[in-house]
Amino acid sequence: MSELATRVRDTLATLERVAEEFSPAVFASSLAAEDMVLTDLILKAGLPIGIFSLETGRLHKETLGMVERVQERYGYEIALYRPVQAAVDAYVEKKGINAFYDSVELRKECCQIRKVEPLGRALNGKKAWVTGQRRAQSATRSDLSVQEYDGSHSMEKFNPLADWSEQEVWDYIRANDVPYNPLHDQGYPSIGCEPCTRAIQPGEDVRAGRWWWENPDSKECGLHLVDGKLIRIKKAS
Ligand code: ADX
Ligand code: SF4
Repeated sequence: MSELATRVRDTLATLERVAEEFSPAVFASSLAAEDMVLTDLILKAGLPIGIFSLETGRLHKETLGMVERVQERYGYEIALYRPVQAAVDAYVEKKGINAFYDSVELRKECCQIRKVEPLGRALNGKKAWVTGQRRAQSATRSDLSVQEYDGSHSMEKFNPLADWSEQEVWDYIRANDVPYNPLHDQGYPSIGCEPCTRAIQPGEDVRAGRWWWENPDSKECGLHLVDGKLIRIKKAS
């Protein structure tokens, strides 16, 4: 069995266990490459794990277009969670539409309104949630496990691709002809909101284009708290 086939087998086993033991469970999809691998696995296996995206109101049109492509390819309607409009309006009015460039605090406040609060609604009443995070994505994820307890949402959290390399993600996508965000072919390995994501240069870290004006250690948006903190950095042994 090839290494990729072993990864796929193990990942499917994790997803099956989530569906059997932690129902109702949901999968948070950012519609980027990793999440398309999980979408393909979940939908082809017919697993009862609902898929949702946080539609922040600041996504690229290419990212939003993936919702339609999933519908066309799999006949599945991804649920979209949007921020509370009054909260967005108040932020924009008091601080400015792009105030997130001004400080880490203002950036986190925007992420709180547009991502974290809607995530709470999407997870309400669920027993577990699934993400497409990988360990190799960044220093902030170097200690990621496939299964962990998410204390901030009081439920299990699964990162079935924790061990996957970027190469394996793309090998799976190509081998299975999985639809993917066209921005990945334009220098965007990691895609978030449009104003907070830019293309990277060859050799740069895969998350270098996310919140590029900030220190690498602050580059998490609050979706993935660990022990109440934004980051998890493996301690040197
Ligand atoms: S982020 O938290 O810094 O934005 P990243 O883009 O690497 O992280 O995505 C990591 C995981 O967080 C994704 O695989 C997905 O599970 C979840 N996620 C990120 N953005 C969204 C989104 N807009 N909607 C749903 N899930 C998301
Ligand atoms: Fe706001 Fe940028 Fe966070 Fe999106 S990524 S919610 S635009 S600060």
